[in-house]
This record gives sequence, C-alpha cells and structure tokens, in this order.
Amino acid sequence: MDTRRLQYLDAMDIQTWVRRDSSAPGRDEVSDTSPEENIPSPLVPRSSSQGDAKDDIASLDWEALQQRVKNCTLCAELTASRTQTVFGVGDRQAQWLVIGEAPGAEEDAQGEPFVGRAGQLLNAMLHAIGLQRGQVYIANVLKCRPPGNRDPRPDEAANCEPYLQRQIALIEPRLILVVGRIAAQHLLKTDTPIGKLRGQVHRYGDIPLVVTYHPAYLLRSPGEKRKAWADLRLALTVMQQQRAS
Ligand code: URA
Repeated sequence: MDTRRLQYLDAMDIQTWVRRDSSAPGRDEVSDTSPEENIPSPLVPRSSSQGDAKDDIASLDWEALQQRVKNCTLCAELTASRTQTVFGVGDRQAQWLVIGEAPGAEEDAQGEPFVGRAGQLLNAMLHAIGLQRGQVYIANVLKCRPPGNRDPRPDEAANCEPYLQRQIALIEPRLILVVGRIAAQHLLKTDTPIGKLRGQVHRYGDIPLVVTYHPAYLLRSPGEKRKAWADLRLALTVMQQQRAS
C-alpha cells in the first residue's frame, strides 16, 4: 500500500494490517479489524416571480440551476448574511454523491463545500475508500451559510430542497453518502437519531443512501471514526454490488 493511502487511513484512525509476506502481490489487505476477523425567519413572503421560479426548478439545466441558486432570495436572513451561495462541486456525472448540511465560514468565503478542516477529513474519508474528491459530487442541503453556524431551520431546508432535488436528478448518482444528522434527517424525512440511521442502507427514491457521521463531529469525537469507517465500507460494498449486478 502506498504511503499516501496509509496517511489517509491514518487520518481516519484506521489501523492497517499488512500480512508478513506483503511483498506478494495482492497481499496487503486493508482492515480495521485483526486479520483473524477480517471478514468481509420565518418564511419570507415570496414574490410571485419567485413562486413561479420555484415551480420550474425541476426542468432547469446545470447552468440555469446554478444561476437560480446564485440569485436566490427565498430566505431573507441567509440572503442578508451570506457572502455567496455555495452550489456544489465535483463530477456532475459522478457515481457517488456526498451530501452535507450547510456551508460554514470557509465555504461561504470560498464558494465551495467542505473546504475547511471538516472538508480535509472528508477528503481523507473518500481517499480511504479509493476515491479522489474530484471523482464525486459534493453538495449541501442548504446552499447558504446559516449565521453563526446555527442549524438550518426547517423552512430554510424546505426552500432549498428543490435545488438539491434537481442536482440529484441531473447527476443520477448510484449512491448517496449523507454526512451528519441534519442532512440525514432532512433527506430521509425522519427524526430518528443518527446512531440508528447509520450502519444500514436506505433509499432516496430508488437510489441507495448510506448515512455516516459528519466529519466535523468526527474531529470532535475521534473515537467514532471506527464506525464511520464501517459506514464507508458499507457504502463501498453497496456500490460494488451494483456494479456486479
Ligand atoms: N459542513 C457541511 O455540512 N458542509 C460544508 O460544506 C462544510 C461543513
């Protein structure tokens, strides 16, 4: 295994085991288990033009959708406080779609999701399952930063929902990886705690959806990285099963 991959696994606190005869091709299995157990504002009043605009989001192409998000004023508080909207980044034909909660300060400044410390850990998580950041598409439930990094409000998530729905429809991902409680509960329309949502395969329409912890949470609670690693492996297995079928 190359040094960089080891570094990414290390960032995830994933203990790697290398067989003694690791010089043999295909023998450097990666696992976090021992070799023995290595089994597989209140709603803003909407002008009529905004209302009409919301109705036709499902027919927009990428450029028109990005422009619509950029000009969105549906949430008065977010419109006033944002530096810019944060649309999404990555391969628009990706098989993997990663969905987070909302931009933070750095994302608001740079206009790109997951560029802060949590983003670095997200990159390491993706690398740990063999994915470059550019191979996936990364988006958030909210396209604007909530002031003071407060949780998104339900009306804000509802206002933003058609944008994410259109992104999903355009990408047609084979798997959605949701990071964090807020995004997971919003997408799955549930208030079930994340500890119960993770570790299993859900569906968003007919797209398999796997939930894991938010990288910002993992930075605060590194002891949970092991569970996140299990979720990532689950997602990888789902993807591999799809490819095989
Ligand atoms: N947290 C998120 O959920 N999304 C980002 O883009 C950054 C931090």
